[in-house]
Amino acid sequence: MQLEVIVLAAGQGSRMRSAIPKVLHRVAGVPLLEHVVRLAKSLSPLRTTIIYGHGGEEVLAALGHLDVDWVEQRDRLGTGHAVMQAEKGLEDEATLLVLYGDVPLLKQNTVTELLALTGDGSLALLTVLLDDPTGYGRIVRDPLGAVQRIVEEKDATAEERNIREGNSGILAVKGQRLKGWLKRLTNQNAQGEYYLTDIIGLAVEEGVPVKTFTAKDPDEVLGVNNRQQLAHLERVYQRRQAEILMALGVTLKDPARFDLRGAVEAIGQDVEIDVGVILEGAVHLGHRVRIGAHCMIRDSLIGDDVEILPYSQIDGARIGDGARVGPYARIRPDTELEAFVHVGNFVEIKKSRIGRGSKVNHLSYVGDATVGRSVNIGAGTITCNYDGINKFETIIGDGAFIGSDSQLVAPVRIGAGATIGAGSTITRDAPADVLTLSRSRQVTVEGWQRPQKKHQESGD
Ligand code: UD1
Ligand code: CA
Repeated sequence: MQLEVIVLAAGQGSRMRSAIPKVLHRVAGVPLLEHVVRLAKSLSPLRTTIIYGHGGEEVLAALGHLDVDWVEQRDRLGTGHAVMQAEKGLEDEATLLVLYGDVPLLKQNTVTELLALTGDGSLALLTVLLDDPTGYGRIVRDPLGAVQRIVEEKDATAEERNIREGNSGILAVKGQRLKGWLKRLTNQNAQGEYYLTDIIGLAVEEGVPVKTFTAKDPDEVLGVNNRQQLAHLERVYQRRQAEILMALGVTLKDPARFDLRGAVEAIGQDVEIDVGVILEGAVHLGHRVRIGAHCMIRDSLIGDDVEILPYSQIDGARIGDGARVGPYARIRPDTELEAFVHVGNFVEIKKSRIGRGSKVNHLSYVGDATVGRSVNIGAGTITCNYDGINKFETIIGDGAFIGSDSQLVAPVRIGAGATIGAGSTITRDAPADVLTLSRSRQVTVEGWQRPQKKHQESGD
C-alpha cells in the first residue's frame, strides 16, 4: 500500500496557557509532534506532511531537522481547511492517513488495523468509546449500525450528545476520494469552520463504505489540550515503559515512580531500580545493576554488578563492572570508572579516567585526571584543573595514596606508589614510591593565653 501521512498541527492550544506552541510541549522529553512523526515514519510512507501554523517559526526551529514536508496554514479555518493546504501534492492513488500533532500515544498496531480497513476503497475511521465524550465529535449511526455522519459537539442535538462513541479525528482514505470531498466542504456550522469530519457524510452520500476501528485504549487517542492532559499522558507513557522493563525482568520498586526519557538500549538480568529514578537518553544497564532512590542517569553505560546509591547523577559516563557510586555522587561527561572503583558521597568527577579498584570516597573534585589502579584519594582532595583560562591535566600513578584535603595543582603528575601528606598543595610533580608533602610545620606556643574580654557585659 502506498501511504501518505498528513499531521494536523496548526492549532493554537490556548488552554495550555503557554508561550510555547502546543506541539512542542513534551512527553518523556520528546515534543508531542515528534512522537507523531516517529509513528508516521514507522509506517514507511511516501511522504509525511505537517500542517503547521501557530508558533510556526518556533516549531520549525525546534523540529525543522525532521525528514518531513512542512506546509503552513496561515488562517486556521478548521481541520478540513488544514488538510486542504496539503491537497495539491497528494497522490490520487495513495492512501491518505490523517494524524493529529497533539495526540502522542497512538500505537502503530492500531494504525495498521485502521489502514487495513481501506483495502476495498472504504473510508476508515478510528473511534473511541468514552464514558464522558465531552468535546469529541460523535459518531452518528443508523439503526443497523452503519455510520451516517459525524456531528461536532457544538452542532449536536441533546440526543446526539448522548452518543458515547467519539471521533478520534484519525482517519484514512484514498487520496483521490478525499480531494473530491474537500472541494465540497462548507463552513456552515456552529463554529464557522471547514470540518474534516463532514467528509463522512459525503462518503455515505456517495455510497463509499465507512468502516470504523475502535481504539482499545482511550489514552491512545487522547489529545493534549491542557496541562492536566499533558501530565496524564506522561504518566500513561511512563507506565508503558515500566511495563516493558518489568516484562524484560527488571524489578521496579514502584512502577508509578519511574521515568524513562529516552531508551534503555540494553538491559541485563535482575536489574533493580528503586523509586524516583530517571533514565535519560541512551542508557545501557548490565546484569544485576542496582540503582538507588532518586538517581538520574543519562547517556551512560553501566557495567555488571554496579551499585548506584541514592541521589546520584551520572551523565555521559562508563561505569565498570562491580563499581559503587554514591550516595550523592555526580559523575559528569567523558568519565570512565573502571571495574571495582568506589566513588562516594559528595564527589564530583569530570572528564577523567579512574583505574580499576581505585577509591574516591568523600567530598572530592576530580577533573581532567587520569588516575591509575588501586589509588586512594583522600577526603576533600581537589584537582585544581583550571587557571581561569585553560584546563590542565592531573596524572596519578597506580597505587598512589593522596592524603586528605590535598590540592593537586595541574598540570601535575603523582608517581606510582607515591604518598601525598594530608593537607598538601602539590604544584610540582611528586616522585614515585616516596612521601611528598607541603605544609607548614606545626608549632605549639608555650605560655600563650586566650584574650580576655575588656568589660564584663551583662548576659554572658
Ligand atoms: C476535532 C474533530 C472532532 C474530534 C476531535 C478529537 C473536527 C471538525 N472535529 O475536534 O470530531 O472528536 O478533534 O480530538 O475535525 N488543526 C489545524 N488547523 C485548524 C484546526 C485544527 O491544524 O485549522 C489541528 C489542531 O492543531 C489539532 C487537530 O487539528 O491537532 C484537531 O483540532 P482541534 O481544534 O483540537 O479539533 P476539535 O475541535 O477538538
Ligand atoms: Ca482537540
